[in-house]
Amino acid sequence: MPVDTIDRAGLAVEAEADRIGAEVDALFTRLLAPPGDSRDPLYAAMRHAAVGGGKRLRPLLAVAAAQLFGIDRTRALRAGSAIEAIHVYSLIHDDLPCMDDDDLRRGKPTVHKAFGEATAVLAGDSLHALAFEILADPDTVEDPFVRSELVLELARASGPAGMAGGQMMDLMAEGEPLDLTAVTRLQQLKTGALIEYAVEAPCIIARLPFEARTPYRGYARNIGLAFQITDDLIDHCGDAGTAGKRIGKDAEAGKATFVSLLGAERARQQALMLVDQAVEHLGGHGAEADLLRAIARFAVERNH
Ligand code: IPE
Ligand code: IPE
Ligand code: MG
Ligand code: MG
Ligand code: MG
Repeated sequence: MPVDTIDRAGLAVEAEADRIGAEVDALFTRLLAPPGDSRDPLYAAMRHAAVGGGKRLRPLLAVAAAQLFGIDRTRALRAGSAIEAIHVYSLIHDDLPCMDDDDLRRGKPTVHKAFGEATAVLAGDSLHALAFEILADPDTVEDPFVRSELVLELARASGPAGMAGGQMMDLMAEGEPLDLTAVTRLQQLKTGALIEYAVEAPCIIARLPFEARTPYRGYARNIGLAFQITDDLIDHCGDAGTAGKRIGKDAEAGKATFVSLLGAERARQQALMLVDQAVEHLGGHGAEADLLRAIARFAVERNH
């Protein structure tokens, strides 16, 4: 692609991410209005984590993939927001003292710093529940069979066979001499599963036959890994102010990552190669897949 085309594509991603960020904020603000009783601090903690901030990659992917299949934007956005709710819950718990013990997230104090540990645990629990409430609502999809598939696959992507399982592997990996295969599997669960679901959800809503989903799964798998390699690179050589979170923590914890195993330069090459592969999976599409192509580049060119 010529350079100016890539630049324009990058701007398109930023514009769409801003728009989606505002729409996700509006939905969470509406769903998390204070009830006016002793639960107010719980709702405030949930809003602190879920409203304002973050790249909103998962809702962005869901909306961009929905464009391929002519799915109503509002429905795709609701599915994307459900994934974002799981993602935000995972970040709240990831930052707790019993896990990564971090004070800064999305440029703000972490939820346990602002509201205390017990409220942070409950805010995570409640965002987890909120994700399934959003998906199970007929406003997301009318057909109950489609809705139940959406719920089933998000449960799989979030639980021990997905994100939570990857987090467990991540905890066990501290000081362990993992090889590239083991790190790839860990990251595929920890970060990849939810990113893959962000593309799978529109396929489910569009009632795509199982075999027809293969290219989109290939795209999402490559993006997920490229995105996590970039997260590791940011941790290795990024800037805390820009990233909005503490950096240097993987090396400090002795964690095996793509960067510790390959070195920064080869890790970067690997991420770029994964992006090329991701884009190849979209070969059957024309301009309607341009946003997905641009998101693939954004996944590795970002510095936050
Ligand atoms: C950070 O995720 C943790 C990982 C799973 C790599 P993001 O980089 O998507 O964080 P936000 O949502 O933009 O804050
Ligand atoms: C967290 O991974 C991934 C999940 C929350 C599932 P990290 O611990 O690497 O994320 P950051 O670097 O704190 O954002
Ligand atoms: Mg962690
Ligand atoms: Mg962390
Ligand atoms: Mg990290």
